[in-house]
Amino acid sequence: MDGSQTTTGSAGAGSWPADARVRTGVEDVAPNRPAALRVRDLRVEFPGRHGALSRPAVDSVSLDLAPGEAMGLVGESGCGKTTLGRAVVGLVRPTRGSIEIGGADLLSASPRSLKRLRRHTQMIFQDPGGSLNPRMSVERCVTEPLEIHGVGSRTERRTRALSLLERCGMPGDASGRYPHELSGGQRQRVAIARALALEPSLIVCDEPTSALDVSVQAQILNLLMELQRERGLAYLFISHDIAVVAHLCSRIAVMREGRVVEVGPTESVLAAPADPYTRRLLDAVPSRAGA
Ligand SMILES: Nc1ncnc2c1ncn2[C@@H]1O[C@H](COP(=O)(O)OP(=O)(O)OP(=O)(O)O)[C@@H](O)[C@H]1O
Ligand SMILES: [Mg+2]
Repeated sequence: MDGSQTTTGSAGAGSWPADARVRTGVEDVAPNRPAALRVRDLRVEFPGRHGALSRPAVDSVSLDLAPGEAMGLVGESGCGKTTLGRAVVGLVRPTRGSIEIGGADLLSASPRSLKRLRRHTQMIFQDPGGSLNPRMSVERCVTEPLEIHGVGSRTERRTRALSLLERCGMPGDASGRYPHELSGGQRQRVAIARALALEPSLIVCDEPTSALDVSVQAQILNLLMELQRERGLAYLFISHDIAVVAHLCSRIAVMREGRVVEVGPTESVLAAPADPYTRRLLDAVPSRAGA
C-alpha cells in the first residue's frame, strides 16, 4: 500500500504526543516547505442544552495541506466537516489540539498576529447570499476586508476590487449593485473575489456550489480551479459530491462522526478505499453504484 494512504486522522483515542510520527501524506507532496495547514489532534465541542459538553463535533483530527494543494473533505451530514473548516479559519475555538497556518500557530497567536494570520485563511460558504452583507455594494464587499486590514489607499483598494471582480467573471457594470440584485452564481463570484482580496494562501470552500443551479456549478468550479493554479492557493474543499472532489482535489479526507477515518490520494481512495466507511459512502453515490 502507498505509504501516503495511511489513515492518520483519528487512529484511536488519545493524543499525538510525538508530532514527528504523524503521517498525513503531505510529506510526499511538499517535503521541504511549511504546510499551508497543519492540524494536530483537534477537538471541537459545543456546549449541550444544560451546559454539559456533547459528543465532540470534531475529534482527534490531524491533517496537513501542502501549499497549493486542494484536499477534498467528504463525509455524511453532521460528521463535522463545516465545524473543522470553521475552526481552521478561526471562527470556532477548539477545545484541544493545534492549528498551524504556514507554520504559525493559530491558537496561541497574540491578537495582532491573529489578525495577520486571518489574512492568510478565508472561507467560501455554501450560501453566498448569507455570507455577503446585503447593505454593501458589490465593490464594497471586496474592498471591506482591505479596509479592515489597512491595505492600500482608497484608490488602490478600488482598483484591486474591480480587477478581482473582473477576474471572477463579474460584468463591469455590477460593482455598484447590491447582493440582492445579482444571480446566485454572481453572488458566489463576488464572495470568491472578497475571499481573494487579502491574497490568502488557504481557502476553506464549504460546499461552494451546492446551492447553485446545475448550469452554474461547473462555471464556478472551473473558476475555483483556475484561481487555485494561478495563485498557488491551497483549498480545503468540503463537498457531498464525490465527482466534484475527484475533479478538483489531489487528496481526499473522509470524516465520520467527527473523526478523519481515511486520508490519501484521491485516485487511491476512490479506487480502493481502505476504510469500510469510505466504501459504504462511495457505494451510496448513485453514479458509482456497482463501480
Ligand atoms: N454552533 C453549534 N452549536 C452546537 N452544535 C453544533 C454547532 N455547529 C455544529 N454543531 C453540531 O456539530 C456536529 C457537526 O456539524 P457540522 O455542521 O460540522 O456537520 P457537517 O459535516 O458540515 O454537515 P453537513 O454536511 O450537513 O453540512 C453536528 O452534530 C451539529 O449539530
Ligand atoms: Mg456543513
